[in-house]
Amino acid sequence: MMKIAIDGPAGAGKSTLARLLAQKMSFVYIDTGAMYRALTLRAQQKDIDLQDELSLCEMANSINIYFESQGGVQLVFCDGEDITEAIRSPEVNSNVSIVAAHPKVREIMVQKQKNMAQCNNVIMDGRDIGEQVLPDAEFKFFLTADLNERAKRRALEMERQGYYSDINDIEINLAKRDQMDADRKVGALKILEESIIVDTSQFGVDEVLAHILSIIGEE
Ligand code: DC
Repeated sequence: MMKIAIDGPAGAGKSTLARLLAQKMSFVYIDTGAMYRALTLRAQQKDIDLQDELSLCEMANSINIYFESQGGVQLVFCDGEDITEAIRSPEVNSNVSIVAAHPKVREIMVQKQKNMAQCNNVIMDGRDIGEQVLPDAEFKFFLTADLNERAKRRALEMERQGYYSDINDIEINLAKRDQMDADRKVGALKILEESIIVDTSQFGVDEVLAHILSIIGEE
């Protein structure tokens, strides 16, 4: 089984690229950010205090998060409910890093992710994939882009989902999230010695895809 890890900050293009790569290579795509988002959504719906690690762990252990492909679109489900759109709300955006910072929550999520990867060729994107989830991945990419460029992309993505936000606010939110993701004790966002760094600031999706395929040897 082959494993490909894609880590990097929010808005660098990880999920777009991972999805395309998975299609091209007939691999399973696992969006680990969506899993932390699903837990955040459920915790907010159940009024769980996001600092209450124990309750979050209980919830993480009891919910079933999974992905399904329908007509080329990857949907996210939690206990039978399609939450694909709900997990992209501004409320989830602002709170997901708080949930993802709890070490014990991460332990549970990492184990779920390892299980998902066990019997499949996978492309997984997130923050700690190369270090914690797939340490023996054949390829570990670190995708990045300038903060301003990432904010522009996030604004477009949100617009498509019907949310309108000031670009400066998005930039502040992304920077705050990056800081929290990079500063936490476990599973922090970081470049590894073996990371292949790809800066996507100046390139379109097709160019980045071609570049990565050439590295993997699949062009
Ligand atoms: O990639 P994303 O924006 O959907 O990720 C949502 C949040 O989840 C982000 O703030 C960082 C966190 N995350 C994480 O801590 N570890 C991962 N493997 C994936 C995401």
